[in-house]
Amino acid sequence: AQVVNADFVKSSVRPDDCPRDGLPEFALVGRSNVGKSSLLNSLVRRKRLALTSKKPGKTQCINHFKVNDSWYLVDLPGYGYASAPQEARTNWDEFTRNYFLSRENLVSVFLLIDASIPAKKIDLDYASWLGQNKVPMTLVFTKCDKRKKKKNGGRRPEENVETFQSLIREYFGAAPPWIMTSSVTNQGRDEILLHMSQLRNY
Ligand code: GTP
Ligand code: MG
Repeated sequence: AQVVNADFVKSSVRPDDCPRDGLPEFALVGRSNVGKSSLLNSLVRRKRLALTSKKPGKTQCINHFKVNDSWYLVDLPGYGYASAPQEARTNWDEFTRNYFLSRENLVSVFLLIDASIPAKKIDLDYASWLGQNKVPMTLVFTKCDKRKKKKNGGRRPEENVETFQSLIREYFGAAPPWIMTSSVTNQGRDEILLHMSQLRNY
């Protein structure tokens, strides 16, 4: 399941503009600043293939990256970025949701959740929307390297993950598959790549 090569293909702002070669793809979605672009870089072992930033709102388009000339990783804009202009927020939200609903070669969405902070309602709502629309989903907990600090509620990533899982179970009755990750230590990288290769071969 190793990555041999990865290339940026294109940025799109409408599902219609996305590549049309029908190759299987996986999309990374989650709150702004949760670490989508960083995780993509970790998966393909490149430092700056996808652009990252300390400030939320960095990724603003649907960005397709082709891996091993045979499948796509898709970096998306985050949701819940309160400081972006309302019009821009509505627009990103609309085209990402349209993308989920219309993209036929989308094998699974990887919903990223920040494990260094307590569970957020907006993430539960997003998971619930994906579930209601029958979009296949894998949960990815990010920033598992960040140890407890007063400012994040003094909880360990494992405790935040447990709380999130139990809330998700209340919503869904069952929890989707989930993986703990860090783009700093590359924790979870091989597990995600293996999971993606299993999903492609179904
Ligand atoms: P948007 O494109 O704005 O939606 O954000 P994003 O989800 O793509 O986040 P991005 O990858 O740009 O990372 C946001 C910030 O979190 C950056 O400062 C990263 O260095 C940091 N970060 C991302 N992943 C990790 C991680 O696993 N551990 C730690 N400690 N920091 C991380
Ligand atoms: Mg990004």
